[in-house]
Amino acid sequence: MGIPVWVMRGAEGGAQSPRHEDAAAVGAAAAAIFDQSAATRVAPTHAANVAAHDWEALADAVRQCTRCGLHKTRTQTVFGVGRRDAALMIIGEAPGAEEDRQGEPFVGPAGQLLNAMLGAIKLRRDEVYIANILKCRPPSNRDPQPTEAATCTPYLNRQIELLRPRVMLAVGRIAGQWLLQTEIPIGRLRGQVSRYGDTGIPLVVTYHPAYLLRSPLAKAKAWQDLCLVKDLIESHR
Ligand code: URA
Repeated sequence: MGIPVWVMRGAEGGAQSPRHEDAAAVGAAAAAIFDQSAATRVAPTHAANVAAHDWEALADAVRQCTRCGLHKTRTQTVFGVGRRDAALMIIGEAPGAEEDRQGEPFVGPAGQLLNAMLGAIKLRRDEVYIANILKCRPPSNRDPQPTEAATCTPYLNRQIELLRPRVMLAVGRIAGQWLLQTEIPIGRLRGQVSRYGDTGIPLVVTYHPAYLLRSPLAKAKAWQDLCLVKDLIESHR
């Protein structure tokens, strides 16, 4: 399939097995991206403050964040990494154990595979920007709760706004469904170009590398998604 160095983990979704029980709460926070009104319903002053931050203030705010219970169990926050003028922004679900330890997204086994996937479309990790929906690790890698995602979304939205990527790639069902505010299965979300809220930024959804590690047969579809991403980047030059 053209990705020789891919070495890939079970029933897709995200890194774990995602469930969205509270679609209304999910919808409330992330639907309107640069429209702060939805986030405002979650936490008015929080959303407004975050929307005014530059990169450094944003990183500081995330570092000091105690807005949801995850701050009690984290080792550290995981803000994001990469070029702040990257054409491609990759968005995962939440830090895992290794990310929590190192303070950087996608540094565990799934991260190794993500790097290889990027390499397959001639991109190095340091040429893109990588972040997660959640900036703190959920205990035992459980699924993010909608209120946690809603509370964290203003940070991600500000990252997107500051970065203004040409293309966004959501990896895994949780990231894809959250960003697109839908419960459509990932098998139907992937393979096409969606748009992120009101920003109009092209958004491609693909399988989570942790899933690809467990289900190598899905690599072929992920390869198609990556080719789509590459084409989008090139067509927006
Ligand atoms: N899985 C994710 O979704 N994000 C990470 O940073 C690591 C694993």
